[in-house]
Amino acid sequence: MIFNQFFDPASSTFTYLISSGEGREALIIDPVIEKTQEYILYLKKLDLKLVKVIDTHIHADHISGMKELNKQTNCAKIMGEKSPSEVVSVRVKDNEKIKIESIELISMYTPGHTDCSYSFFMKDRIFTGDTLLINGTGRTDFQNGDPIDQYHSLFNRILKLPEETFVYPAHDYKGNKVSTIGDERKNNPRLKVNSPDQYAELMNNLNLDNPKMMDIAVPANIKGKIL
Ligand SMILES: [Fe+2]
Repeated sequence: MIFNQFFDPASSTFTYLISSGEGREALIIDPVIEKTQEYILYLKKLDLKLVKVIDTHIHADHISGMKELNKQTNCAKIMGEKSPSEVVSVRVKDNEKIKIESIELISMYTPGHTDCSYSFFMKDRIFTGDTLLINGTGRTDFQNGDPIDQYHSLFNRILKLPEETFVYPAHDYKGNKVSTIGDERKNNPRLKVNSPDQYAELMNNLNLDNPKMMDIAVPANIKGKIL
């Protein structure tokens, strides 16, 4: 299997490329528009055919490369059914399979960071978007975010996975690249709460500034943008 994690330093975003092997089909999760050429060169180098692109949610801190990648490769544009995106071609429900050749991802509706946040589980790993971060969780104070929903997405869905499951988030700001469910259960300070209300109290008092790109990125990602 080919598995590559790209990083956009401007927005600290991780983008993932998955394929069963050279010359085969490929899938990309959470592409950043400015990085499109890097993805295309990587695809060409390994003779991969990009067939599917997934955004875990409408991002507020960068512009998605989904529409541009579709323009260049004609790949399918996939998001969860709750997405307000006007450009997606496939909307997945909770617990739906997304396949490329022998590789299978399963969608999990994990609202809380936004009401359109999905995670994607693949055999031994989960792509958590901004729902579960390494030693953190995605903020819940805009885009219809809700800390109580996020508590349930975390404790009743994602953290129920086996503890050796790898966690691949959409961002990291401190140089981490991957974690596991077990490590997050043990170390993540946001998960040291005893109830949904306690989690909401914590999340409602973070007092974070809005992302710099928010007013540009959210509308651009709903409409879709090309280079
Ligand atoms: Fe986000």
